[in-house]
Parts: sequence; C-alpha cells; structure tokens
Amino acid sequence: MNDTVQLTFDGDVATLTIDRPDRLNALNEATLEGMADALDEARGEARVLVVTGAGEKAFAAGADISRMAEMSVEEAHAYCEQGHAVMNAVESFPAPVIAALNGYAFGGGCELALACDLRIASERAVIGQTEIDLGIVPGWGGTQRLVRLVGDETARRLVFFGERVDAQDALELDLVSEVVAHDELDEYVAGMAADLAEKPQFAMAAAKEAINEAHEMGQREGLDFERRLWSSLFGTPDQREGMDAFLNDRDPEFE
Ligand code: COA
Repeated sequence: MNDTVQLTFDGDVATLTIDRPDRLNALNEATLEGMADALDEARGEARVLVVTGAGEKAFAAGADISRMAEMSVEEAHAYCEQGHAVMNAVESFPAPVIAALNGYAFGGGCELALACDLRIASERAVIGQTEIDLGIVPGWGGTQRLVRLVGDETARRLVFFGERVDAQDALELDLVSEVVAHDELDEYVAGMAADLAEKPQFAMAAAKEAINEAHEMGQREGLDFERRLWSSLFGTPDQREGMDAFLNDRDPEFE
C-alpha cells in the first residue's frame, strides 16, 4: 500500500479510504495500486468493507486528468486494464462492500461506487459519468455496470450528457439507495456495516456471488448455479447454528 490509500479496521469492518484530498482523491496509477494492495489485505479478514474518500469534498473526482492528458494509446490501455482490475476486485470482494459517498463521485469515482454492493450518499454528494466532456467515455466499467443499476435509457442520458446529479436526484434514479445528512454519513454507514458483520460470513459471500452471477449468466444457468450453491451451504456451521437458533427461540451466534 502507499500513502494515497489507507486501510483501517474496526473489528471485522475494514475501511478503505482514498487519501489524496488535494487532488479530490483522483485515482492515478499509484492510488489504483494502493487500492489493489488494500483489497488484498482486507480479503479474508474483513466481513464488511467500506470505501470512502478523505477530506470534506470528494469521494473520488475520477481518474487523474492531468495524468491522462499525456497518455499514449498504449499507456491508456494499461491504465484502463489497471482500473478494470481494481473495480473487478471490489465487485468480487467476498463480503459486502459499501460506498460511503461523502462528496464528488465523478468518472472513475462513480465507477468505483458502481462496483460496490451498496451506495449510501451524503446529501452533499454529486455523482456523474462526466467523461464525455473530456472527449472520452467511461472506461472502468461504467458503460456496463451503470446500465444494470439504473437501466438503459437513464444510463444513456447520464453518459451522453455527462450530467452531474445531486444526491436527491441520484436517489430518484436508483444510482444510490439512501441519502443521509453529511455529518451522519460515517455513523450511519458504520451502523449498517456492523449489522452486516454479524451475519453469517460464508452465506453472505455466497449470496453476493450468486447475485453477481445474475449479471453474468442467463437465467437458466443462474438458477442451476443457485441450486448448487444453496445445497452446498447445508452442513456448514452457520446453517446449523442459524436453524438451531430459530428452532430453540434464541439469537444465532455465527462464527
Ligand atoms: N484529476 C486530476 N486532478 C483533479 C481532478 C481529476 N479528476 N479533479 C480535481 N482535480 C484537481 C484540480 O485540478 C485542482 O488542482 P489544483 O489545486 O492544482 O488546481 C484540485 O483537484 C481541486 O479541484 P478544483 O477543481 O479546484 O475544485 P472545485 O471544488 O472547484 O471543483 C470539481 C471540484 C470536482 C467539480 C472539479 O475539480 C472537476 O470537475 N473535476 C473533474 C471531474 C471529472 O470530470 N472527473 C472525471 C475524470 S474521468
């Protein structure tokens, strides 16, 4: 990891903070590398991962424009691959990932939020796939994940106009699932993360994987996958504990 990314733990909850506030947490190669290292470190340790940005203004104001401005096609290709690898690692992280959108989330910052499982916005958040006005298009998964989250026409509108939407509009477009007061964002997300961290870890990873596969497989194939996954959970300590707790009228205590 490097000094542009921080990874902290509070019990089973890890928080990855993009820490380049003087550049509004723009994501250059070093930051992407730091994120990849942080995700590796948190994998297997964290039962929930929160992703957020340092400072008062930004979650992440996107890919680093001053860096991109001087890139050759080959360098752009490598930067795109690096961004994709990080977003894919967030998406496939084997525990829920919550984006705490504390401010601007543009371009690659929006794409990072899209790769997370849940998006909670501060009322100060402003979100958008703004690449069109830089003469490019979303390149870290935005053309694909945005369509799935908000639907085809809304995605086209956001990408074609490069619109910057405030938190309330983002909520109406289903781009985020909740909006909270700016000062309450951290506490709210911490509460959510603590609740999720108490759920059975193995079943949670299975639930996430199955839902991710709904975007990758046809329905018949997805239902086959679900059947195999579902029965594979039987005999696990969590399944035994969850059902025994219900039958004995007590709260479950998962591993
Ligand atoms: N890449 C590189 N540097 C960035 C950046 C980015 N994506 N976004 C902001 N910065 C830098 C600014 O150049 C500025 O640097 P400086 O202090 O050396 O001038 C610094 O961060 C602060 O940004 P500034 O624009 O002065 O802040 P602001 O509050 O006036 O505006 C934004 C904030 C987010 C509205 C504005 O910075 C912006 O539109 N950024 C680009 C967003 C974008 O299109 N992202 C998609 C990239 S794919």
